[in-house]
Amino acid sequence: MPVTYTRQGRIGIITIDNPPVNALSQAVRAGLMAAADAFAADDGAEAAVLCCAGRTWVAGADISEFGKPPAQPFLPEVIDRIEALDKPVVAALHGTALGGGLELALGAHARIAAPDTRMGLPEVTLGLLPGAGGTQRLPRLVGLEAALDIITSARQVPARQAADLGMIDQVADGDLTAAAMALAEELAGQPPRRTCDRPAPAAEDAQAEVLKAQLARKLPGQIAQQVAVDTVTGGLALPFAQGMAQERAAFRRLMDSPQRAALIHAFFAERAVAHLPRIKGIASRPLDRTGVIGGGTMGAGIAVACLLAGLDVTLIERDAEAAAKAQGTVETLLEGAVKRGKLAATRRDEILSVAFRTDTDYAALAQADLIVEAVFESMEVKEQVFAALDRVAKPGAVLATNTSYLNVNRIADATSRPADVIGLHFFSPAHVMRLLEVVVADRTAPEVVATGFALAKRLKKIAVRAGVCDGFIGNRILSHYRAAVDAMVLDGASPYQVDRALTDFGFAMGPYAVSDLAGLDIGYLTRQRKAADRHPRDRVPVFADRLYELGRLGRKSGRGYYRYEGGTPQEDPELAPLLDQVRADLGISPRNFSDEEIVARTMAAMVNEAARVVADGTALRPLDVDVVMLNGYGFPRWRGGPMHWADARGLDRILSDIDRFAAEDDHFWHTAPLLRELAAQGRSLADLNGGTSA
Ligand code: 3HC
Ligand code: NAI
Repeated sequence: MPVTYTRQGRIGIITIDNPPVNALSQAVRAGLMAAADAFAADDGAEAAVLCCAGRTWVAGADISEFGKPPAQPFLPEVIDRIEALDKPVVAALHGTALGGGLELALGAHARIAAPDTRMGLPEVTLGLLPGAGGTQRLPRLVGLEAALDIITSARQVPARQAADLGMIDQVADGDLTAAAMALAEELAGQPPRRTCDRPAPAAEDAQAEVLKAQLARKLPGQIAQQVAVDTVTGGLALPFAQGMAQERAAFRRLMDSPQRAALIHAFFAERAVAHLPRIKGIASRPLDRTGVIGGGTMGAGIAVACLLAGLDVTLIERDAEAAAKAQGTVETLLEGAVKRGKLAATRRDEILSVAFRTDTDYAALAQADLIVEAVFESMEVKEQVFAALDRVAKPGAVLATNTSYLNVNRIADATSRPADVIGLHFFSPAHVMRLLEVVVADRTAPEVVATGFALAKRLKKIAVRAGVCDGFIGNRILSHYRAAVDAMVLDGASPYQVDRALTDFGFAMGPYAVSDLAGLDIGYLTRQRKAADRHPRDRVPVFADRLYELGRLGRKSGRGYYRYEGGTPQEDPELAPLLDQVRADLGISPRNFSDEEIVARTMAAMVNEAARVVADGTALRPLDVDVVMLNGYGFPRWRGGPMHWADARGLDRILSDIDRFAAEDDHFWHTAPLLRELAAQGRSLADLNGGTSA
């Protein structure tokens, strides 16, 4: 029984117990109806407390039911039933009161919360809007502006702020249950204060339009936020019941939208990546004391990520000067966290005096549980570093490399303990980006893999298991679609048009803006390194080499593809003649590309390589690719990731695109056999996810 009704004196107690997060499944909804009836019929009860067992108050509707036929009783009816009771109900909140969970609380007649409770309406992040009264009850409690902010931002409001806003009545000082019982005693015998009876705040169309325009700029292409604003303001002009009906209709419309399916796929995919059969039940090794080798862009960021998670960090650099520089970078990054309110200044001081140190002697790593190497991207240098680590690291220490592309098996060979070696591929900036590719080499021990995943959890990052190959999951796919994009520029497309077409599609940044951010030297040096292995028919982005040779290294030199006078990127009229010259030198007659063509080619290349990455086991499932591209490469979340997008577009259409492109260039364009097989069998990539994604 996920919902029970009991009584203590004159107070009825309704308890929801549906682990792990008390989601409002059909059984819980039915249980709540029955409990409301039991309380109504219990003449000995004059008020009730509604509470939850376990780690949290209700975290929302049961997302796994979305996309399936809805089952009665529906949540709005359940909440209406509770609100309509003629004896007061006190909601006692703890943990996270989210979505339908918060809406349930808003339908109670009073709300009290433990001090560390957080509450919010995150539905827009799932492509939905609050569909059980949130758009109509919340503004009646907190006013229009705060309600629109909470609903469209999906932010979690801490308990004290919620009390100040009027979302809840009280923050419980001591024991939550005792405080809720006391409040129920106080209200017993009084008529219930129904949120629906409160006056609706006035909604101005002009205000709504301004907010919608802001949201459209910030979240291009996303519909849920737009519909949410209209539903809140439109509903408030109507009597409550009609406002509710309008909300329900909008909720159902969004439920049927592809954006909802994509966002919920992303939600479950991000959780499914953590369930690796190979490490199920395997304990991780300790990871309190960490070491980082190299304090450049990545090493300093990795050190800060570890320090912010409460780990002890020793950072090794080549010499005293480099160590002092790394110390400065770490201090600056921590200062940034203080400025953003993420870290107390006193805690920062404590970290710098107790938990962090730099050194130039590898012997300082003798006690480290886990060491992450982030030195230059050179096999020779990495082999030297791992040989040195092998001499100083204690037995059982996990030895990790942050390499972007190099062969982790070879790096492991530089040690006498390959079972302890793993790739931990962080993304830049490492203290901000949530993705961590855990690269499992041939001989990596399962408990070392488990430690990689445990580290990610400790750092609040999303870990995805990847196999060894050139670039693992993300960078391998990136290299491939980058080649398709560069080929379009060689053939006549403008980098600015490419960037615009792909940001219009929803990417956070276009590929050429990304190059400018990373620095054009990185791509140049990679091309130099790989030049010897190049096939004569590989298409080289000679224009990128020209920019490098001109010292146009991107943002850091003030000029790359774009100009950065004053910080913001501006298109540069000097780029077109440079491109024309490169094309003329190569004997290419430039042609036009439509935006659709740019997106089709980029996506076909991405999906094609991703299918190969899945087929050869580099990624376990298509959903692992989606999680990598969503969290490391700016892929639009509301499109679910390239594999989800491919299924939605239809594999047949992608195959016919690839065939069309192959007719022009059959060196680059080869259909991945997996795509052809799935299409021939009428199956989708999602069928390979093993039922782990909605
Ligand atoms: N429905 C179904 N399952 C859910 C769920 C939900 N609402 N929320 C979490 N879960 C599941 C997760 O899939 C996970 O399952 P797994 O262990 O099998 O992988 C398990 O619960 C634990 O979740 P997390 O790993 O995310 O646990 P955390 O402690 O890190 O986070 C949380 C807890 C903050 C509650 C987080 O899970 C979360 O944000 N959940 C979603 C909240 C949400 O979006 N609610 C709104 C739903 S839409 C809605 O309510 C519509 C309404 O307006 C009608
Ligand atoms: P970087 O050049 O900024 O930093 C490298 C640092 O390593 C320098 O400070 C250097 O002094 C130090 N170093 C070199 N040899 C050393 C040694 N033997 N002992 C101690 N320190 C040594 O390079 P970056 O960008 O931080 O990259 C480091 C690694 O991370 C590379 O393997 C790179 O491929 C990878 N990586 C880089 C990403 C990025 O966006 N920059 C993203 C993910 C991975």
